[in-house]
Amino acid sequence: MDIELFEHSKNIFLDNVDAKSYVQIETIAKQYNSLLEAIQKPLKMILIYGRPGTGKSMLLSKLYADLKEQKNIFLYATPLVDEEHFFSMLGHDILHLKTKNLTQFMALLKSADFQEPPLVLLDEAQLYSDTLMEKIRLLSDTRKIKFIITLHKTQTEDLIAKEHFQTRIWESIELKNATEDELKLYIVKKLIKENCYDNADMFDTKAIQTIYKITQGNYRQTNKLLYTIFELYLSYEKAKMLHKIDLHKVSTKTIEMAALHKGLIK
Ligand SMILES: Nc1ncnc2c1ncn2[C@@H]1O[C@H](COP(=O)(O)OP(=O)(O)OP(=O)(O)O)[C@@H](O)[C@H]1O
Ligand SMILES: [Mg+2]
Repeated sequence: MDIELFEHSKNIFLDNVDAKSYVQIETIAKQYNSLLEAIQKPLKMILIYGRPGTGKSMLLSKLYADLKEQKNIFLYATPLVDEEHFFSMLGHDILHLKTKNLTQFMALLKSADFQEPPLVLLDEAQLYSDTLMEKIRLLSDTRKIKFIITLHKTQTEDLIAKEHFQTRIWESIELKNATEDELKLYIVKKLIKENCYDNADMFDTKAIQTIYKITQGNYRQTNKLLYTIFELYLSYEKAKMLHKIDLHKVSTKTIEMAALHKGLIK
């Protein structure tokens, strides 16, 4: 097997969010479709929530990539935690005007004439302050802008518990870890998408079971683990030890070594 392939496969599992490397498995497709449907409904706000590493940022960036040609859509992947910065960015992007606070923004928004509400995607909304969240809610109340926000799970529960979020003007979509079957599809599809067929074949049922046991199907942890597994093969190559290793199957030992290295097991 060509060792360069291992370098390529390793990089497939870098922990970055790029819509080009999005893979579709049934649950993810369902979540994506619920999101598309939610956008069509007269909702004021849509919440995407889940534990870290369940694919919230990925879903948001996929949505953005798919809709950016046909819709008035804005993605803020890095939170605009400073209020003045928030209103100046939104004013610039959405209204093409200079604004630096809610009052100014609201006044200008009133006279804006959109064909349909602009979609504003805010990633990592748990980093916004309570006061800014309240202002975002006030903005969504105007129905002139539709917000899609991602939040960590506990923060969502806190937010929903708050009185002013208890109305049914929003919809929430929960993202979860993959099941064992989904995890296999995730790994194999990621590799096949990049033409790494031989490396995709290395993960048999036993290997997937071991990976699932370690990562519980969390996408970020799986990426970390897979990245390190391929890194291990590359270091075997450097140490001229590759001939001692079965390159057609990932062994439990290799998976566990990678997991130890990443601190995923103790
Ligand atoms: N559908 C998918 N297709 C391909 N890769 C994915 C998919 N979903 C998640 N990933 C991968 O898993 C990793 C974690 O996903 P992501 O960063 O979206 O999680 P998150 O829920 O936003 O986590 P956090 O709460 O820490 O921000 C990403 O680096 C991404 O590469
Ligand atoms: Mg994220």
